[in-house]
Amino acid sequence: MCGIVGYVGKNNAVDIIFKGLKKLEYRGYDSAGIAIIIDKKLEIKRSVGKLCNLGAMLDKNPISADIGIGHTRWATHGRPSEENAHPHTDPTKSVVVVHNGIIENYIELRNKLKKGIQEFQSETDTEVIAHLVKKHYKNNLLSAVQKTLCELKGSYALGIVCSEEPDKIICARQDAPLIIGVGKGENFIASDIPALLPYTRNMIFLENGDIAEITAEKIIIKDIKNNIRNRGVKNIRWDAVQAEKDGYKHFMLKEIFEQPRTIEDTFRGRIYPDEGRVYIEEIELEEKYIKDISNIYVVGCGTAYHAGLVSKFLFESFAKIPTEVDIASEFRYREPILNEKTLIIVISQSGETADTLAALRLARSKGCRTIAVCNVVGSSISREAMNVIYTHCGPEIGVASTKAFTGQLTAVYILALDWGCKRGKLTNKELRKYLKELWEIPLKISEFLKNANDVCNIAKIFAQKKHKRDFLYLGRHINYPIALEGALKLKELSYIHAEGYAAGEMKHGPIALIDESMPIVAIVIKKSKVYTKMISNIEEAKARGGTIILVSDKNNKEIAAKSEHIIYIPQTDEFVSPLMTVIPLQLLAYYTSVLLGCDVDQPRNLAKSVTVE
Ligand code: G6P
Repeated sequence: MCGIVGYVGKNNAVDIIFKGLKKLEYRGYDSAGIAIIIDKKLEIKRSVGKLCNLGAMLDKNPISADIGIGHTRWATHGRPSEENAHPHTDPTKSVVVVHNGIIENYIELRNKLKKGIQEFQSETDTEVIAHLVKKHYKNNLLSAVQKTLCELKGSYALGIVCSEEPDKIICARQDAPLIIGVGKGENFIASDIPALLPYTRNMIFLENGDIAEITAEKIIIKDIKNNIRNRGVKNIRWDAVQAEKDGYKHFMLKEIFEQPRTIEDTFRGRIYPDEGRVYIEEIELEEKYIKDISNIYVVGCGTAYHAGLVSKFLFESFAKIPTEVDIASEFRYREPILNEKTLIIVISQSGETADTLAALRLARSKGCRTIAVCNVVGSSISREAMNVIYTHCGPEIGVASTKAFTGQLTAVYILALDWGCKRGKLTNKELRKYLKELWEIPLKISEFLKNANDVCNIAKIFAQKKHKRDFLYLGRHINYPIALEGALKLKELSYIHAEGYAAGEMKHGPIALIDESMPIVAIVIKKSKVYTKMISNIEEAKARGGTIILVSDKNNKEIAAKSEHIIYIPQTDEFVSPLMTVIPLQLLAYYTSVLLGCDVDQPRNLAKSVTVE
């Protein structure tokens, strides 16, 4: 996730682009850059770190032009550095590109270009686009971009300018957002509405496959084959604050709704269900080592710890590797038995959590190999771990983690499948089946989210005073950690005490708490070996007067008889089901918190990144 802004018109492009990027900093902030054309020559300014660094550079040496593109980066390929900051250009410095997305086949394209002895200046997947456009350029930028796009696999929102056609911006969209702001004698492009609101409320929302040629006076939208595409202009009525949240009331809600895309971004370029193949470019573990792993410790805090608990089921079932999961603050002070065959996986959204970092250092000091599952490129954990698999979720602003959690689940699912194959524990047929299940998840979540209001209606009942004393969350097997996560979300957001429990363990204690005032959220998955066991546990709770809220993927009579409060979710395989079952629980916590008037995005006493012990 990165932010793009472009401008062509009579005003100073640098000013407009910089202010626009400021509004998009929530999309990434590890480096930034701007490219303009002055007298048919490209000028590029880039700087590592937050946008203010670029601002200081521009203040020192002011530049101005009537056309330009800019970018604020959230690194995916290549660490945050000036060389990797966008815009990227071709070797002759005539084409310049800003990009949000992931080019899956960039290595292949790079290798092809390298044969023609092309020099690359960065480690990014984006630079190859500038080289390709230049290669195809024959006095027609639009056509060169169209030819380039035919070669790209992956997702992109692109802004491209060329010194030989200094009056136009070409932009294109595939699975990454891009809008055109329509002005008078000036036009704009941006990743998101807030960047353009000070200048225009008339916007065109590009769709997949659209390529636009934009001058100060004209906007022409075509497809790759040069057919005209007609897109209407929408008038945006949001105020600036609404726009930052994409029209959602809170960042958390926005982030919940982003999950179909963020999950896809995390598996994109890493899984190929049709071929039955997993490819995790950044993990450098030899097959021999993977075969020899004796055990795994997964370590994290809070929600990341819950992702670790889910991963245990995956590593043990798919790869047959004994796995222990630990809370980082505990792990660092006990004496875990570690050796060179022990693999340590630390999970952290921020990559800065002090306890998780300390656990990582402990593991390294004992000579273990380490992998971080992390969202923030360049963070301490990502720098210190030997290998990193990034969750490509973009910045998470709501303190309660949502999209980062499902990104973490996606990452560990992929790792477990990969190792299952490499260790000969999964057949290719099984791999294809599980990959397909993952592939279908974003669509299923999108379907479910259309009915988010049903969850809100349930929250309305249970946010009432007579109910809100305590909640119990029950799950079994791989959905037991999801019960823990659901309870954590409710606690942190609405300050209602909630406890997650393994449903089979309920009779050893929590059952004593159950009476009519206690809501019990129970997760039931049909395609599960514990389905009937779970049903029995629900009966036990019901028999004690508990009010059941069911989350179930099966719309059948048996389930319907168990409770009047049912949240139906699309059916999935059990192993991938946590990605689905957690969504209604996130929503339930969110709506309850809103109804109780709590501060959803910044709950009291909590912090997004806990850098102290
Ligand atoms: C804090 C946050 C949680 C997060 C946990 C671990 O408690 O409020 O949302 O799960 O830290 O953070 P990390 O960045 O390491 O995933």
